[in-house]
Amino acid sequence: MLAPAPTIHLQSVEKVFPNGVRGLAPLDLAVGQGELVSLIGPSGCGKSTLLKLIANLHQPSGGAVRWWGEDFSAIGREGRRLSFVFQDPTLMPWSNVATNVRLPLDLDGVPRAQAEARIMPALRQVGLEHAAKRYPAQLSGGMRMRVSIARALVTRPDLLLMDEPFGALDEFTRNRLDEDMARLCARDGLTTIFVTHSLYEAAFLSSRVIVMAADPGRIHAEYVIDPGMPRDEAFRMSDAFARICRDLTALLSEVSPRRAGEEGI
Ligand SMILES: Nc1ncnc2c1ncn2[C@@H]1O[C@H](COP(=O)(O)OP(=O)(O)OP(=O)(O)O)[C@@H](O)[C@H]1O
Ligand SMILES: [Mg+2]
Repeated sequence: MLAPAPTIHLQSVEKVFPNGVRGLAPLDLAVGQGELVSLIGPSGCGKSTLLKLIANLHQPSGGAVRWWGEDFSAIGREGRRLSFVFQDPTLMPWSNVATNVRLPLDLDGVPRAQAEARIMPALRQVGLEHAAKRYPAQLSGGMRMRVSIARALVTRPDLLLMDEPFGALDEFTRNRLDEDMARLCARDGLTTIFVTHSLYEAAFLSSRVIVMAADPGRIHAEYVIDPGMPRDEAFRMSDAFARICRDLTALLSEVSPRRAGEEGI
């Protein structure tokens, strides 16, 4: 029997922007069903560009992106879904939490009663069922981000793309949300591609970490983490986690734009 096609497959994909900037040199990447793959690397190495190519928000200048072995138009035909979570939760301030979460279903023309029935389960997934009637201004930064994740989950995505979703949050809140994400992804087998600046976050969440380098953007190394490890507070305190962080620190230092002998600030 043929092996199933990977969820996402980039084949010699490159990106040159109209102004001539080479965002990505040709690269290959395959992401399988249920993987949580993180992209880390210095600013400007093409993490967001890569994510936007996968979301079909950018078109490659060369090579091909395949979604479940097909082109992008097949996604809608086969009822598959992609959800994108940005660093800024971008909630509608004039609408309460429930209405914010319902937005993508409204845009898709899902009948109101069906859409309403999906709001509370999505809010429950992020521990916010008690806040359905609150307005964004009445929420903490972490709660606003949870609403943004519920809004992504309410469409029941087959692929979740996240670009530094917790980058603006304090470390404590970020750790809590990372634990929630790990639980959600493990429970639902959600395929996720996650951009972060934090190697600790990548180490905690990922089944695989892609370390990227800049000028031009490219893949420097891949680091596999046993997906079977429970991602909880005990994991964060473990020797295994410390070793993963050390390994990722070493890989990141290889692509750091500051070289020995260079002046600091
Ligand atoms: N629309 C665009 N037009 C021209 N150049 C762009 C465009 N978008 C990104 N770039 C360039 O492509 C390169 C990769 O940018 P990208 O935003 O993907 O980096 P990144 O790894 O996400 O950085 P950061 O960590 O700062 O978010 C950079 O040199 C950037 O200036
Ligand atoms: Mg970026």
